[in-house]
Amino acid sequence: MGNKVLKMGVIGVGLQGESHVEKFQYFQNSEVVAVADINQKRVRSVAKKYKIPHAFTDYHDLLALKEVDAVSIVLPDHLHVEPGVAAAKARKHVLMEKPLATSVEDGEKIVKAVKKARVRFMINFSNRWWPQMRLAKAKFEAGELGDPVYAYARLNNTIYVPTKMLKGWSKHTRLPHWLMSHTIDRVRWLWGSNVKRVYGVCRKGYLKKLGFDTPDAYHATIEFRNGAIASFESVWVMPETLPYLVDSQMELLFTEASVLINTVVSGTEMATTKGKFSYPRMASQSYTGRPQGFVADALQHFADCMVEGRKPEPTADDALAVLKATSAVVESAEKGEPIDL
Ligand SMILES: NC(=O)c1ccc[n+]([C@@H]2O[C@H](COP(=O)([O-])OP(=O)(O)OC[C@H]3O[C@@H](n4cnc5c(N)ncnc54)[C@H](O)[C@@H]3O)[C@@H](O)[C@H]2O)c1
Repeated sequence: MGNKVLKMGVIGVGLQGESHVEKFQYFQNSEVVAVADINQKRVRSVAKKYKIPHAFTDYHDLLALKEVDAVSIVLPDHLHVEPGVAAAKARKHVLMEKPLATSVEDGEKIVKAVKKARVRFMINFSNRWWPQMRLAKAKFEAGELGDPVYAYARLNNTIYVPTKMLKGWSKHTRLPHWLMSHTIDRVRWLWGSNVKRVYGVCRKGYLKKLGFDTPDAYHATIEFRNGAIASFESVWVMPETLPYLVDSQMELLFTEASVLINTVVSGTEMATTKGKFSYPRMASQSYTGRPQGFVADALQHFADCMVEGRKPEPTADDALAVLKATSAVVESAEKGEPIDL
């Protein structure tokens, strides 16, 4: 790349895309030079707020800009394939929001394109940057925990997420892609082992009745190649009255240790006369004006790797391996039988 400041283009400036813009504009070694979003009002207002010189409604115009070194693709889960392939063809490095795609076929197209173009690629499994996961990984690699036996990971949302936050596209994704991709990545990365066999089940009905044709809950039992097993739960119909949007808990059992990670209870409880009781998000939200937390750390890793000429992680192969596992959960639940990978 040759320059010391990474010039980013951000494709899709919804909730998560704006968070990318904010962070890459703030970091010392990156700046956002262009944004693209099909929603003209939205893209103009984000460009104005963060003082971005170029705003487009067609991402191809962003990809045509020579000055753009790399792009973040922050579009709805089912729309990653076309911009992923186009960005690689335009020789831009790619930061792809999770999940890679919602089908293995689409995921393979993206991976093939980035490998062919020899551009660098990172999938944003940002949960890897939780300090709790770093601690568990360091202890495991130092041999202090023993061998993996079992993992339980729950990543749930309130019904606000599929019916309001992702109202326009929740029916186009599935919980294994939207949420379980994070938890499967965490376990796969921690153990350094791939998925061998998947048994998935799902529950449909509640969201469908509300007009959102997507299952309410998935559960998966997964055997890993290292012989350990893991249980994954994702539900997105929890009541909105809960004091949090995301319920995330994890239990890891090893031959010589157990590790419990709870990122819901942040150590801060808040009750006001105007709002409901809440646990304010401390792990990803910044209250200082300086981006902080696991998403900021993941994006900073990408910027650092780009300017220092290093290969970022998680890689395209990680992204595809997780997509194969999450797609197998969906398929197993549909067929009612286990899937071998
Ligand atoms: N890593 C994480 O922790 C994390 C957290 C949240 C979301 N995500 C991922 O980020 C992605 C975006 O999620 P979100 O919550 O920001 O969604 P969102 O609905 O808030 O934003 C999506 C944006 O894409 C735009 N868009 C749709 N089609 C387009 C097109 N063809 N061209 C240009 N723009 C288009 C929409 O107008 C919208 O502004 C998803 O893949 C999601 O899974 C990751």
